[in-house]
Amino acid sequence: MVKKKSYKQSTRLVHGPSHSAKWDFTHHVTPPLSSSTTYRLDSAKRGARGFQEFGHYVSDTGETPVYIYDRLDEPTRSILEGELADAEGGGACVTFASGMAAISAAMSSVLVPGDEVVAHPMVYGCTHSLFVNWYARQGILVKRVDLNDIPAVKQAITERTRILYFESPVNPTLELIDIAALRKVADEVNAKRPAARKLLVYIDNTFATPFGQRPLEHGADVVLHSLTKNLGGFGTELGGAVICPRVMLPSLLLYRKDFGGILASKSAWSILVYGLPTLAVRIKRQQYTAGKVAAWLEKHPAVKRVAYPGLKSFPQRALARRQLVNFDGDFTPGNMIYFELDESKVNAERFVDQIAAEAYSVTLAVSLGHTKTLIEMPSSMTHSSYAGGDACATKGATAGAIRLSIGLESPSDILGDLSDVFDALLARPKAKRKAATAR
Ligand SMILES: Cc1ncc(COP(=O)(O)O)c(C=O)c1O
Repeated sequence: MVKKKSYKQSTRLVHGPSHSAKWDFTHHVTPPLSSSTTYRLDSAKRGARGFQEFGHYVSDTGETPVYIYDRLDEPTRSILEGELADAEGGGACVTFASGMAAISAAMSSVLVPGDEVVAHPMVYGCTHSLFVNWYARQGILVKRVDLNDIPAVKQAITERTRILYFESPVNPTLELIDIAALRKVADEVNAKRPAARKLLVYIDNTFATPFGQRPLEHGADVVLHSLTKNLGGFGTELGGAVICPRVMLPSLLLYRKDFGGILASKSAWSILVYGLPTLAVRIKRQQYTAGKVAAWLEKHPAVKRVAYPGLKSFPQRALARRQLVNFDGDFTPGNMIYFELDESKVNAERFVDQIAAEAYSVTLAVSLGHTKTLIEMPSSMTHSSYAGGDACATKGATAGAIRLSIGLESPSDILGDLSDVFDALLARPKAKRKAATAR
């Protein structure tokens, strides 16, 4: 049975394919989990054919491809890749062992020494570390430019520039980058370039997920994900994905084969069976709560600033409404909140310590997109690679900043825990909880 394109994407993520170009499992309700490091080849000819065909796009001919060895290709992982490419509307998908493995592969498989990248100043801390600690020593120059400042972007691009790199929403500040504006810049540059040296627009879509934003529709070339977060959704699997045009597939598969950062089939299966089918319902619920928490935080006297795309005060509201749109066309501000405390009233470190000590529904932990609400301090945790006087350490990793990833708990419990922590630190009597009546 072929996947029904006429069904809504959220339904398709629940049902997935019953047949894929990589594996026919028509009579399963749940996709099967394959766990075989190596494959029976029947003949030397079949083995040779498998190696010959490796790295090419497999179209659905009704014939299962030749599998050779897990690190080259594997059926469960392949089915997940088909689902992710479909959800993002992309030509192909290659998964990796983690989000960082996906990001580094997508960049390193394109870049050669002497090439340049223009990247937004604020990105996830390990991506920043990849740029400053590794690409610098590999002869790749990463220029940091505000990617919403189009004249500055144009000025930074040279004939060596291959990639415009950013996250949107940005981790942790939730700033948005205008994808269509960068597409225009890339098109202007590419009009004078040969196909092999095109300037590519890369976006890390981990915060929004394909449910909340499909960057290819706005002109991105490559979409990156940490599957560890919202797409996995339960905090049990580490993984990453690159959604790219089919022309990039051979070099990405070759890169993955030789550098070896494959996604385990068992992790792929969990994401396929638990993560994707529940994505829409999890994000909808979490975003409902995030809206309440963000509005509550904004009114709190000890909070200096809250960034949440669903708030009226969000500075890029028009762009948010244009880009953060779910499969059904509804505005999807997401489950992440960024806020800064007024440190003359409440110290951020004491705040998260008090959470760790007293809160039940909010957990002091890095990562995001979990069933549980997670809180962390970017400046000393996820974005600590920015410390030490780095020129990029501007907005976003400020000392009083806090990142909150909303989970599936009752909103009133999260608000109750946050309120108790504020009251304890401000030496105020605890506010009465309305747990019995609140939803
Ligand atoms: C936006 C973003 N991209 C990439 C990553 C890296 O993902 P992973 O931990 O799966 O390597 C993270 C991790 O927090 C992230 O927040």
